[in-house]
Amino acid sequence: MTSTFEDLIPVVNKLQDLVFNTIGTDTIDLPQVVVVGSQSCGKSSVLENLVGKDFLPRGTGIVTRRPLILQLINIPYSSPSTLSQPPPPAPSSTTAYDPAGDLSTATTRTTSPRQEEWAEFLHVPGRKFYDFTEVRREIENDTVRIAGNNKGINKTPINLKIFSPHVLNLTLVDLPGLTKIPIGDQPTDIEKQTRGLISEYITKPNSIILAVSPANVDLVNSESLKLARQVDPQGRRTIGVLTKLDLMDHGTNAMDILSGRVYPLKLGFIGVVNRSQQDIQVNKSLQDSLQAEQDFFRSHPAYRNISYRCGTQYLAKSLNNTLMAHIREKLPDIKARLNTLMGQTQQELASYGEPQMTGSGNNGVLILQLMTKFATSFVASIDGTSS
Ligand code: GDP
Ligand code: NA
Ligand code: MG
Repeated sequence: MTSTFEDLIPVVNKLQDLVFNTIGTDTIDLPQVVVVGSQSCGKSSVLENLVGKDFLPRGTGIVTRRPLILQLINIPYSSPSTLSQPPPPAPSSTTAYDPAGDLSTATTRTTSPRQEEWAEFLHVPGRKFYDFTEVRREIENDTVRIAGNNKGINKTPINLKIFSPHVLNLTLVDLPGLTKIPIGDQPTDIEKQTRGLISEYITKPNSIILAVSPANVDLVNSESLKLARQVDPQGRRTIGVLTKLDLMDHGTNAMDILSGRVYPLKLGFIGVVNRSQQDIQVNKSLQDSLQAEQDFFRSHPAYRNISYRCGTQYLAKSLNNTLMAHIREKLPDIKARLNTLMGQTQQELASYGEPQMTGSGNNGVLILQLMTKFATSFVASIDGTSS
């Protein structure tokens, strides 16, 4: 199984280098992907599947009690000969809303993951986590530290970065789920507070909303769709994710929702099957669960014919396309900026009375011309891959 996002990694890296080396800023910040839905609908499971790693606390009841801002950061492969050495330093481009996202669900590794991928928390400076079980434990511990151990939620985010050659630079946000009835330490206005918290993240026009609804609950009660509609009434940046298709009553199916007849979203609804609570308890691997998901759709009497557009892999692909469209939208602006920059440099050189494009000191214009040329062919190549 290969990841769709694997293709996007070199494209985005190249473009970022170009922009960084010329304009000097990171102007192609990709949208951040925000996961919303009611409590226990499967948000953390979906996110974990997309990242392709076991690292998030999941489970029945209120587990996610603080926002988790997850920044995926692409780093070069370390060659096998350097494996015994410490991992490479963090890349320079680590702004808060970096593009990102290898939602690579499956990657073939030839080198030890221990050496080439690691996680860092903002609140644990200087420590690299190579063991993703420890990442989960740290999320749990810091959740308790800030939000207490009696079901309270807190809006202070946990900032986590994952460095890996298998991810695209992308920011993903996991949020506490919507609940109606306060329990434990939760204040009486828990619903209002959670709503406010979620709105904060999805209002940003630069957010792609993964609106998660469980298939075993009537869609008219979907809290995620209600929230998404408030900030994205036309459904342009909302992807509907229907979880728990395996838990629907026998003899029923979600074909009408998946085919867009129930609720209109430009980006559509995608059905997935995540690990069940029992799968989690017996430590079912991500690989096995993705395979089981695929088998589920391919052998299901209703979904068999649309199995190609179901499941986690297809969700990753859809996200990929959405991100690509975003990049394409930004390219004309980048090109225009390069042209301006080139004009300015040319003028500056002329004002010194120096002959242009000659001599060793006047490489600026030449480099910019090459960059602009590159940007132009880049646009062409991206448009090529998208058709
Ligand atoms: P969250 O509260 O929305 O983040 O939901 P979690 O990802 O923590 O999942 C809540 C519970 O639902 C866990 O026990 C998961 O194992 C289970 N779950 C999530 N998605 C599915 C699914 O597609 N099928 C089944 N059978 N269980 C699921
Ligand atoms: Na949960
Ligand atoms: Mg969760």
